[in-house]
Amino acid sequence: MLLKIDQERKTSLYIQLYKQLKRAIIENRLTANSKLPPIRVIADELEINPATVVKAYNLLEREELIYKKVGSGSYVSPPGKPYILRGSNRSVLIEDTDEELTSGINFASATPTPDLFPVVDFKKVINRVLDRDGGESFVYQKSQGYYPLRESIQIYLHELGIDQEVKRIQVVSGAQQAIDLLARTLVDFDDRVIVEEPTYSGALSAFLNRGAHISSFPLEHDGIDLDSLENFLMAEDVSLIYIMTSFQNPTGITWSREKKEGLLRLASRYNFLIIEDDCLSDLYYRGKRPISLKSYDLEDRVIYIKSFSKVFMPGLRMAFMVLPENLIPAIQAAKYTADISCSGLSQRAFDLYLREGFLNTHIEKMRELFKRRFQLMERKINSFPSGIKLAFRPGGGLYFWLTLPDDFNLEKFYLLALKKGVAFLPGRLFSIKDKELPCFRLSFAAVDENEIEEGMDLLNQLLCQI
Ligand SMILES: Cc1ncc(COP(=O)(O)O)c(C=O)c1O
Repeated sequence: MLLKIDQERKTSLYIQLYKQLKRAIIENRLTANSKLPPIRVIADELEINPATVVKAYNLLEREELIYKKVGSGSYVSPPGKPYILRGSNRSVLIEDTDEELTSGINFASATPTPDLFPVVDFKKVINRVLDRDGGESFVYQKSQGYYPLRESIQIYLHELGIDQEVKRIQVVSGAQQAIDLLARTLVDFDDRVIVEEPTYSGALSAFLNRGAHISSFPLEHDGIDLDSLENFLMAEDVSLIYIMTSFQNPTGITWSREKKEGLLRLASRYNFLIIEDDCLSDLYYRGKRPISLKSYDLEDRVIYIKSFSKVFMPGLRMAFMVLPENLIPAIQAAKYTADISCSGLSQRAFDLYLREGFLNTHIEKMRELFKRRFQLMERKINSFPSGIKLAFRPGGGLYFWLTLPDDFNLEKFYLLALKKGVAFLPGRLFSIKDKELPCFRLSFAAVDENEIEEGMDLLNQLLCQI
């Protein structure tokens, strides 16, 4: 493998080396379990200090791209997390075992199935847009988004208690793109980012891709413990914190008002920004819709992301974010660099869908339907063997997070369930810590009530056997 170091570049030598090795590992030019050259050999070859190589290797080790064997050297780690989902709607692939669930009961998928999509109404708005705007629907749009849609979003936000100028609203291709654009804009190599433990894996990937140093704080029923967060903030510079305040993925918890206000006070005192990722606040089943952190934000420290993937159609890639004023130009530029703009036809059709009140009606229907699934699944969980417990009691959303006794063999349970045709997600997928968490997530987004009955009874039987 050819390594090159450029002494003239501003990038530190160890970062240059780290990046080349990382790329070689990701591209499989350095294969799993192969030995990396000894530190002294690389140092001599590149005419650099061995301490520089050590620093590069330490970074690779921290990202778990390599592992060290005492007295033997450093080796390339086998490919990352074993459970990787592909596709949706009954197609779950476990990369390390190549086992695929093509038919069966899918408690893993977190997106609604196509039979729930409002295709008829959406077809109507698409046709109206085409009659009205013709070819204009297919030109490049402004990177910030189609202006009338941003106006409709402003009205939609007002109903959620968030009053913002249109200029702060950025349309994005799904919440995942919002997180990625923010990571590219706000996170530099080795910056400290804080997340909840457990958290959404797509956000972890976006921050890790930027070389962020991620610290996680365990969730309680009403958010993270702010005293331990503050102790941490006293010792470390933190640039960003990423949270889901309503029906969090995967635990289902909702931050209390007290903790939301406390977090904003900390953001002000220690000068950091907060990303509030809201996919699920529409799906409340007990009481009222949770109030967003953004509604309490007087200092413009919260970047609010709202996705419609979970209550509408994920493939439409429709989401937006509300930006602090000083971030508008940088995010606009990042969006332009990423994909110029979201699809004009989709934005125009979605705008009409919002203006005509179709979205609210559809969401109400989804809430009713998911509430029935939620209640059924909760009842079924309550009849699981003792020791298998709900970690929290969510008031909405699409998930339940269950904890297991410490000595429970989750891997065995997972594979047995898969063999019987039932998929769910094991806890480690949601953690930055590379160890199996004694937890798993059950989602009811992609299963009807019959499947919940059948699948939960099956899991119950397996839990009794193991
Ligand atoms: C918390 C969270 N954020 C973002 C996303 C990505 O959603 P989108 O389809 O809007 O990109 C998901 C998807 O599961 C999610 O759970």
